[in-house]
Amino acid sequence: MFNLQGRVALVTGARRGMGRTHALALAGQGAKVVITDIDLAECELVADEVRANGGDVICFKMDVSNKADVDNVFDQVIAKYGRLDILVNNAGIYQSKAFLEMTEEEWDRTIDINLKGYFFCAQRAAKEMAKNKWGRIVNIASIASGGVGVGIAGGAHYTASKGGIIGMTETLAVELAPLGINVNAIGPGAIDTPMVSAAQLPKEVMDAMLAGVPLKRMGRPEEVSAAVVFLVSEEASYVTGATLYVDGGWLAA
Ligand SMILES: NC(=O)c1ccc[n+]([C@@H]2O[C@H](COP(=O)([O-])OP(=O)(O)OC[C@H]3O[C@@H](n4cnc5c(N)ncnc54)[C@H](O)[C@@H]3O)[C@@H](O)[C@H]2O)c1
Repeated sequence: MFNLQGRVALVTGARRGMGRTHALALAGQGAKVVITDIDLAECELVADEVRANGGDVICFKMDVSNKADVDNVFDQVIAKYGRLDILVNNAGIYQSKAFLEMTEEEWDRTIDINLKGYFFCAQRAAKEMAKNKWGRIVNIASIASGGVGVGIAGGAHYTASKGGIIGMTETLAVELAPLGINVNAIGPGAIDTPMVSAAQLPKEVMDAMLAGVPLKRMGRPEEVSAAVVFLVSEEASYVTGATLYVDGGWLAA
């Protein structure tokens, strides 16, 4: 099960954190992996890890919020492999800012990367996938995305972007189903990555957050990558338009 031999997969924001483990996991199942991020040198380090495990990989510098950049990279991927089967829209930023002090620029930057970037990549990917009548798009949202009772102080722009991702996922599932493309979202809970370390949450805030999580710990990036592998596999053929929460039971508590 979950064999991805012959598939070509592109992961955004893959130089570190969950993007890195998604790339390693997809390659581990046999997919050819395209690693993209804003820092090419760090992408190459992840590519070295993939190759060390016997995987097939290439890297590109790609800012998901820049349409010309996205089009250029997708063109090069198609020129090299002739197809794209899997997209993991993962790139994202979280820059905490009190709502009453948030500037238009700060709002726009988060929405441009976290939401418009997903649109650019999903649209280009779907056009390629439609040619083969098979595709899988996984959009990494968040537990903090509306409707489930998890707001984050300082994250109005972030939660708006993540809620938008879930709405877009449901609509794409409907529009792209006739083209053989399944589109799903993953809503991670608190996962131990550089994004969370950079937020420098005070210990008491982190402890209070984890106290409400039944598994009483942060998730590991690999635990989210396992969900990615499932959703992009043939075995997920009847799953589309879903949001899979990988949150240690947070929402159930
Ligand atoms: N860590 C968590 O607890 C958590 C929880 C829920 C959702 N998420 C989401 O998971 C995804 C991965 O986050 P992470 O925790 O691994 O964080 P991370 O900061 O380690 O990784 C995010 C990656 O996105 C890249 N990136 C940023 N701006 C970009 C741009 N304009 N173009 C291309 N790449 C860009 C960064 O360089 C980085 O490599 C994000 O979408 C994040 O919002 C994280």
